[in-house]
Amino acid sequence: MFDLSLEVLRVVEDAAIASARTMGMGDAHTADQAAVESMRRCLDTIAVAGTIVIGEGERDKAPMLYIGEKVGSAKDERCALTVDIAVDPLEGTNLCATGTGGAITVLAASEGGGLLHAPDCYMEKIIVGPSAKGAVELDAPVKQNLKAIARRLQRGVDDLVVVVLDRPRHQKLIADIREAGARIRLISDGDLSAGIGAAVAGTGVHAVMGSGGAPEGVLTAAALRCLNGEILGRLVVKDDAQRERMRAMGIQDANKIYNTQELAPGRSIVFAACGVTDGNLLQGVRFFGDGIRTQSIVMTLSPARVRFIDTVHLENKPDVKVRFR
Ligand code: FBP
Repeated sequence: MFDLSLEVLRVVEDAAIASARTMGMGDAHTADQAAVESMRRCLDTIAVAGTIVIGEGERDKAPMLYIGEKVGSAKDERCALTVDIAVDPLEGTNLCATGTGGAITVLAASEGGGLLHAPDCYMEKIIVGPSAKGAVELDAPVKQNLKAIARRLQRGVDDLVVVVLDRPRHQKLIADIREAGARIRLISDGDLSAGIGAAVAGTGVHAVMGSGGAPEGVLTAAALRCLNGEILGRLVVKDDAQRERMRAMGIQDANKIYNTQELAPGRSIVFAACGVTDGNLLQGVRFFGDGIRTQSIVMTLSPARVRFIDTVHLENKPDVKVRFR
């Protein structure tokens, strides 16, 4: 695929700046809306014929970035670069609203069919980095998975940190992790950024376990294809309506356990995320009078590149001052 790195970088950076302006307002909806509007505007300046495959929801519920929406400036699909696009304009809307760390803006793109069209339901997940790839199973006892991860990382189970969304549905999982002896980081939101962190050495995250959003699961898989990490996930079907929705999206077996490749099978994947509030992996947006500073990660599968990008967005002033860090 034509290298879209700089274009998608611009999309996530602008969305991060827009939502960061709302940080701490206590209004998750406004924060999300700022990111969505910015992303939508920016996407239309990229010369592709894009289709949103993971977005803000169904057309009737989401005014923008709804599933199936066409984006991009290339009107003639026959001669344009056609791409499928998955977005989470603001991952961690509550984190941004409360000024808590870990909110990011996210976009992944691939050739058509390169990202699973997942319905907006939960997904049971286990996420590990490259060293523990192939060592875990979604249905294995927690203790067994933790032992396997520890062995691959050449340390004790008590040295591991497992990230879990702090939800009542995870009571048993948390008890099992404690019993196995691993340490836990409970997070209020943001299993996507935790999942990326699990595949980047030095973030202090060794695994993510538990159920979170399925769309976040697909975006995590797109990132992990580029980072050589692993996610295993199974959709959680709540009711008949969701089962029907799944069938309509082409998913026949609701109990299937997907691996990273099946969630994001694309040959050409580009993934970008930008920090909104300070997190383990990315610093949040900083405003400093003359300009704005953002930190992003942009990855492509082919060629295999992982770029950490620190951008200073300058106002057009002649006396502008740029600091090294
Ligand atoms: P939003 O940013 O869309 O609010 O999602 C945050 C998040 O915490 C995700 O990271 C996670 O996958 C999902 O919500 C968990 O859903 P729930 O809050 O229903 O447990």
